[in-house]
Amino acid sequence: MPFEPGAVPAKGTIPLSVPEINGNEWKYVKECLDTNWVSSVGPFVNRFEQMLAEYVDAKYAVATVNGTAALHTALLVSGIQPDEEVLLPALTFIAPANAVRYAGAWPVFLDVEPNHWQLDPQKVLEFIEQQCQWNEGKLVNKTSGRRIHAILPVHILGHPCDIDALFEIARKFDLAVVEDATECLGAKYKNRKVGSQSDIACFSFNGNKVITTGGGGMIVTGNPEWAERARYLTTQAKDDPFEYVHNEIGFNYRLTNVQAAIGCAQVEQLESFVNRKREIAAMYDRELQSVRGINFMKEASWAFSTSWLYTILINESEYGVDSRGLLEQLNQKGIQSRPLWQPMHHSPAHKNSQSFNVHVADALHRDAVSLPCSVGLTDADQARVISAIQHTTR
Ligand SMILES: Cc1ncc(COP(=O)(O)O)c(C=O)c1O
Repeated sequence: MPFEPGAVPAKGTIPLSVPEINGNEWKYVKECLDTNWVSSVGPFVNRFEQMLAEYVDAKYAVATVNGTAALHTALLVSGIQPDEEVLLPALTFIAPANAVRYAGAWPVFLDVEPNHWQLDPQKVLEFIEQQCQWNEGKLVNKTSGRRIHAILPVHILGHPCDIDALFEIARKFDLAVVEDATECLGAKYKNRKVGSQSDIACFSFNGNKVITTGGGGMIVTGNPEWAERARYLTTQAKDDPFEYVHNEIGFNYRLTNVQAAIGCAQVEQLESFVNRKREIAAMYDRELQSVRGINFMKEASWAFSTSWLYTILINESEYGVDSRGLLEQLNQKGIQSRPLWQPMHHSPAHKNSQSFNVHVADALHRDAVSLPCSVGLTDADQARVISAIQHTTR
């Protein structure tokens, strides 16, 4: 299982994106074990929430068991109802689409734009103007008859979406915005941290993310009622903790103190991790720009990307091999590399969901190759990756 997140790669393999555990992780975890604070309450949970809120510059943060649970909760907090619809990019990991289904609602998959690969505001507008109508004060999809509840931008690969443009559309059509920032911790949009201006946004601390807690997630919001509701729903909707009275069906979605302890130690190193990620990306850009047939994601003028998962595009006719051919050769040489996710409009799991004019996502999926870019990647290993790309067998 070489690509299972969290699986330790075989000896000699250059891993795609693995954690960096070099700070106070051991010390803080030991503190949990020594004090018996190991479960889903404890001082590290509070500290981790505070540290993350401060780092992102968000008012409130609520820790969750993973990013998917954060997204499910955030959608519920935003007021989603069963059988409503949410507008999502087709090019994403499946978790946000699944979270929409957990809420009994339906994703509608829209295209991404070709330069930064993020949800295209223009395509969102086109979908709304061509495919939706106002019905009793609600925006309704003419094909399905369902109400559109929200836009769910997914900031993929460490680069932010054009969030102001998406917010403008959302405000105009009275839609909620629930941001999937799971891949984008530390990135900035117009000099503001992603998540700082959000109505509600979610992060992940899965093993392959910029920082990890093993597994974990966080909801950030500026809305005190939403933060309280997120806390309530993620702790089994407990109204009386002594008599065990629950007025609603909640979820056991809270992060444990042990995981939060790792998270605190990781946040302490986050800035240096982001800098290292950007350094790795800059080195790849520099060394690969002269290779014919290799193209790059462009960093938007308004963006500060973390380059979380460094990904190139292969133009087969110029490079001489297609992306899958390159992937095969790299992996045979012990260089872990992988394609992007199957676009959601092709996913059998979401075959009953609508998509609209998706083309760019297909081209990116055909051509993309993600390369090793762990914080701990050595210069020698990076040189090995670069050389393998420069000397592929055509
Ligand atoms: C875009 C995206 N959304 C959501 C998730 C889900 O996060 P988690 O694995 O913590 O549930 C991930 C990654 O794992 C992701 O890449």
